[in-house]
Amino acid sequence: MSTLGNSTNIFWHECPVGNSERQKLLNQKGCVVWITGLSGSGKSTLACSLSRELHSRGKLSYVLDGDNLRHGLNKGLGFSAEDRTENIRRVDAGLICIASLISPYRKDRDACRAMLTDANFIEVFMNMPLSLCELRDPKGLYKLARAGKIKGFTGIDDPYEPPLNCEIEIQEKDGVCPSPSTMAGQVVSYLEDKGFLHQ
Ligand code: ADX
Repeated sequence: MSTLGNSTNIFWHECPVGNSERQKLLNQKGCVVWITGLSGSGKSTLACSLSRELHSRGKLSYVLDGDNLRHGLNKGLGFSAEDRTENIRRVDAGLICIASLISPYRKDRDACRAMLTDANFIEVFMNMPLSLCELRDPKGLYKLARAGKIKGFTGIDDPYEPPLNCEIEIQEKDGVCPSPSTMAGQVVSYLEDKGFLHQ
């Protein structure tokens, strides 16, 4: 019997269909592909492209996108360091979970890594220069941040801590950004090599 937070007198009930049964059924191994990077660096684009590619190969994935989470489950959260931490703590699903969040703090990303077996956490760093993200400015938010109309914007007046040991890094080549399908291909090759797409 446990007491956790506001839940008192609760019991954990074991279910006979577990992770390994689900993985066998799906012929894949569960993992978290964690895409981190500045706003406008292409996280959501990669997440969608990767999910489409996996789907076409008959692999089940689910995208957890920061902006989308903040429309529902996490809509009560803001962008203070504490709220960003909480936003990330709530992201934890099975299967091939594609999490696409700025996740600016190394300690938050490492906390998620620590919840899983190390190999099952695949950190993908969208290493795009701030100048490029700002040029793209798909939502017009950098402009507002530069004008002082949004405070605490990542990369402008709020920090972004790049990963020190990520599994995959996506960056420009000779000043050209890889296409969405090239980026997805890079991640799929990694998943294939490490045996996540088979049982
Ligand atoms: S995180 O920092 O908590 O990981 P998350 O990925 O969920 O961020 O949300 C980022 C999105 O929120 C951005 O793509 C942008 O559309 C919006 N946003 C609004 N305010 C901010 C801010 N102060 N800093 C960064 N992104 C912001």
